[in-house]
Amino acid sequence: MDIPIHQYDAVVVGAGLAGLAAAREIKKSGKKVALITKLHPLRSHSGAAQGGINAALAKDDSVELHEFDTVKGSDYLADQDAVEFMCQNAPELVRWFEHMGAVFSRNEDGTIAQRPFGGQSHPRACFAKDRTGLTLLQTMFEQTNRLGVEVFDEWYVADIIYKEGVVAGVCAYDIKTSKPAIFNAKAVMFATGGYGRAFKINSNAHANTGDALSIVARHGLPLEDMEFVQFHPTGLAGSGILMSEAARGEGGKLLNSKGERFMEKYAPEKMELAPRDLVSRSITQEILEGRGVGPNKDAVYLDLTHLGEEKINERLPELRDLALTFLGMDMVKEPIMIAATAHYSMGGIPVTIEGRVQKSPTEIVPGFYAAGECSCVSVHGANRLGANSVLEAPLFGRHTGKTIVEDIDKLELVEVSSEDAKGMIDEMQRLLTNNGTERVAKLREELQASMMENAGVFRTKESLEKQKALIKKYRERYKNIRLDDKSSTYNTDLQEAIELGHIIDYSAFIVEGALAREESRGAHFRNDFPKRDDEKFLKHTYAYMDENGDIRLEYGEVTLGKFEPQARTY
Ligand code: FUM
Repeated sequence: MDIPIHQYDAVVVGAGLAGLAAAREIKKSGKKVALITKLHPLRSHSGAAQGGINAALAKDDSVELHEFDTVKGSDYLADQDAVEFMCQNAPELVRWFEHMGAVFSRNEDGTIAQRPFGGQSHPRACFAKDRTGLTLLQTMFEQTNRLGVEVFDEWYVADIIYKEGVVAGVCAYDIKTSKPAIFNAKAVMFATGGYGRAFKINSNAHANTGDALSIVARHGLPLEDMEFVQFHPTGLAGSGILMSEAARGEGGKLLNSKGERFMEKYAPEKMELAPRDLVSRSITQEILEGRGVGPNKDAVYLDLTHLGEEKINERLPELRDLALTFLGMDMVKEPIMIAATAHYSMGGIPVTIEGRVQKSPTEIVPGFYAAGECSCVSVHGANRLGANSVLEAPLFGRHTGKTIVEDIDKLELVEVSSEDAKGMIDEMQRLLTNNGTERVAKLREELQASMMENAGVFRTKESLEKQKALIKKYRERYKNIRLDDKSSTYNTDLQEAIELGHIIDYSAFIVEGALAREESRGAHFRNDFPKRDDEKFLKHTYAYMDENGDIRLEYGEVTLGKFEPQARTY
């Protein structure tokens, strides 16, 4: 089958804040760039980020304090050179957005308003009401549009072309028609989002399935620190939809079934504004010990009633709307029900600060780049602070775009042919014609529920081994998939089947890394190893998958700096 081959200098996959910022840089330099996305750019998951973007802007704040909070928040696993780069450039990035037209909420004196977020020693999150991500996404999209960046939206990238030791392009198909194409380029960048959808209760958009992780891993390239999955403390009960940390930043209180403000026990100083890992564990502990609320006693209350209607409408309008729509509860009149929800992926495709993908801690893959949540740079280490990802994504996206511009004339366009898309075409055909008995939705539901139970907020050797065995079975069952929709027009059945294959693969990485890491650090909590163990585990995990789906682990150095690891109390 002859497949159309499109040639570009660079291809960027994913049109959230990281992808748009990179594409803008590349286009600005005069290079030919294609931006490929399975959604319209404005539907990208960056738009769901509500609460803010961190930058040390205030006179009594400092870049060094921001760095310290980030490194302490990461439980000392973050690479401190990358953290320095991020925090030092944050104020300039916020001004950059402002100059491009992003409208931030303001103080009376006209300065950009900043609200407190968890684990921070200063109110540092700049915001646009509770629609910060959407505001920035719209701004970035307008700018890429203005420059005429070529967007292939509703295109699904199913594979990279990795040959002769370099990445030479991607294989994709048009979701509208199922027609395949190859995008041949000197530089390929992934900016495709994280892996929270491995879990039943999560705050991630339906389409945010972390495909790039498995695509990369299937070529024998490593994934870094996959065991670290952030559970956001406040997802709407039942659905996991995000109730921004801004709610606690504005003064929200957490209450159990006895009406106790239980954070007094767990983080007496920071209370509800302790970092996310700690608050999520505290909420889950209250529920496990029988002090939950709601029909299934699997939630706690987030009380905002004392803020009053005016403040809620001014600062948290989106949250009020979401709680009304999905829970039927008006936060102005009553406390709403929330529980921890899988939210953010600290691990991902290992990259250098410049955004070059690594094939080992010391080597890169020429022509291959990544930024944003699918990557691990690693600025968040074992636990991310709120409002640091809306910072990380455009900052490292923009920086990676600049790296590509710098590299591109030194890179060669490796020749590709229709044969290079054979893997993708065969897999599409297999899924479409397989006459098995397994349904995508059911298998995905079982996988996500079991990940929640066995590899969620609390983990043990026993639960993780159980999950490892289950994943093996899910992988076998996946071979027996049957699709109802055999058509070629908007075949979401087919797309979801491909995505499920990716979720199964990266779930195995989460579990394998968690099993081997016999300590508790940040978001990774082992009941059987409740303490941090710097001697054995102050190191990054690099995991590699073989053709049978078995995973081998190696470890790499953490880049330390001016902040020595110390006990982490709040
Ligand atoms: O809580 C929030 O508004 C989420 C922000 C973030 O994850 O950084």
